[in-house]
Amino acid sequence: MEESKRRILTPKEKEIQQYVSCVEEKEDKIKKGSQEVVVRSKTHVEEKTSVEEKKKRKHTEENLDNNKKIKLDDKEILQGGVHGLREEQKDKKRKTKRPRSPEDPLEGGSGYKKPCLDVKRPAPLDIESYRFHKDLGRGSFGRVMLATFAPKKQLVAIKIISKKTNKSNYENIKKEARLLKMANSCPFLCHSYAAFQSEIQAFFVLEYASGGSLYKMISRKGKLPMERVKFYTAEIVIGLQFLHSNGIVHCDLKPDNILVDMDGHIKICDFGLSAEGLFGEKMICRLSGTPGYRAPEVLIMNDYNAGADWWSFGVIMYEMATGNLPFAPSVSALREVSTIKSSKPDYPSHMSQEMLDLLSKLLEIDQKKRLGVKGNIREHPFYATIKWKRMEKRRVKTPFRPKKPSAGELPAISPGFPADSSKREKVEELSYVASTWNWQE
Ligand code: ADE
Repeated sequence: MEESKRRILTPKEKEIQQYVSCVEEKEDKIKKGSQEVVVRSKTHVEEKTSVEEKKKRKHTEENLDNNKKIKLDDKEILQGGVHGLREEQKDKKRKTKRPRSPEDPLEGGSGYKKPCLDVKRPAPLDIESYRFHKDLGRGSFGRVMLATFAPKKQLVAIKIISKKTNKSNYENIKKEARLLKMANSCPFLCHSYAAFQSEIQAFFVLEYASGGSLYKMISRKGKLPMERVKFYTAEIVIGLQFLHSNGIVHCDLKPDNILVDMDGHIKICDFGLSAEGLFGEKMICRLSGTPGYRAPEVLIMNDYNAGADWWSFGVIMYEMATGNLPFAPSVSALREVSTIKSSKPDYPSHMSQEMLDLLSKLLEIDQKKRLGVKGNIREHPFYATIKWKRMEKRRVKTPFRPKKPSAGELPAISPGFPADSSKREKVEELSYVASTWNWQE
């Protein structure tokens, strides 16, 4: 009789029942201190950002909630998911949540790991807080995508670097994180808001420079108006001097790595090839950079330091002023250096004497005599009208303001992250949220 009175369960109810027994089994194991559960709670931190895992977890969490509701209110369970919770139950849930630090406890910051599945990342460190729109480009080590930080509807650029199993890749990710944190102290370097990682990728959330790169601007317009060249190069000077005074040589300065933000100011980006710790006379020796922008000492694999960036800066200035490169690029380093040594750039007749003089001092083959290494470029007559103190504070009116983008107009796409979920090591001390990012609504 009892049997015949029992209602036939709907598929949803059956599913809930299955989860109830699964959860009860897990709770039993936790109580008994089962080895399996202890191991899961340790590795869970590693697993949770993989998209697949997140989906599974969300599903499990919802059903855990359903499970609670079964005990609380039999009718409500069968009607809704997690959103069906009553206000006082939601309140209780909020109050019992473990406190979260923006320094991402999930990266091992907190000693206490709760052996359950409801650990949630703060929104800036959760890949699911971001909607992806399109590729912005490829940097030295990764891909950069335009995305929206959904809770604030704020456009950001996300640099995504695959975690390869070699050590140098991990070192590069750590270097990028160090340099991006440091870059936040200079207004002419691309700022980062946050960094975090999944099992197979590292994510750097960067400010979105909506004006695009100087490369795109030069490709579109050809040579730029002289006032713009002066303004942009002056801001690059401040950014470069900041890097150099912190012992950093960019090593891949080119128009693709110089962006214009939404107010029309310059942002140097992509520190993937940068060298650190180059204070005083310290030099490095490795072939890096992009054909057309590499200094002669880099091409012949001599020791070099900040002077290499001043050469690239000279090339960029020439390109902005003329629309062309001063020396023909070549993938062969030897051919490129022989072109540099055997030819002179074609200086157009309309070029001002000040610019001509400045360019000849930047495109100086001897790195020790090159302006930037020898003498202060800010004092050159080309910059006589620049008010450096005001410029440092971004108080000088920009020559051009890009159109303001709106996150609302952009369609979301699937970023197509690799499905590979094989275990990779965690990059230590990667996660952070910049204290200057006002990410809460
Ligand atoms: N391309 C690479 N990084 C970018 C950024 N931060 N903003 C806009 N475009 C980019």
